[in-house]
Amino acid sequence: MALLPIIVAPDPRLKVKCEDVEEVTGDLRRLMDDMLETMYDAPGIGLAAPQVGVTKRIIVVDVSKSENDKHSYKMINPEIIWASDQFVDYEEGCLSLPEQYAQVKRPEEIHLSYVDPEGMVQILKTSGILATCIQHEIDHLDGKLFVDHISKLRRDFIIRKLKKYKAAL
Ligand code: NI
Repeated sequence: MALLPIIVAPDPRLKVKCEDVEEVTGDLRRLMDDMLETMYDAPGIGLAAPQVGVTKRIIVVDVSKSENDKHSYKMINPEIIWASDQFVDYEEGCLSLPEQYAQVKRPEEIHLSYVDPEGMVQILKTSGILATCIQHEIDHLDGKLFVDHISKLRRDFIIRKLKKYKAAL
């Protein structure tokens, strides 16, 4: 396994609409293992393939709080098939926007389909922080960041701070 470099915004590679995965291969399973390791190391609760420079529809997520209760998801071609009318606010962050946070409103409950690493189609019905995190990660696959959900004023402020952060690296 390997740690992968995470792309920091603003970066055109985070604005790309990713392609569907056609076939689940060993290389793809290795990529998902590396993504999960990279996410835990950061540490974060979700990571999407474009954040590590791969323009494929793949995300990994683990919102469990304790070390001994890990529950990770590796999702290929995740697709929201139903979303509640009820919305909820969460303070979101992103490994591609280090140390930046904002309140984002999203549907509280979602149903989604995805392909697991064994190539099987799965259906997940979820709410709370897991639903928020999955929606955030699926946004990445469409070239969207959490700051695209907030006011332009606040977004520009965060992007300016990130540009300074990157200049200082
Ligand atoms: Ni993110």
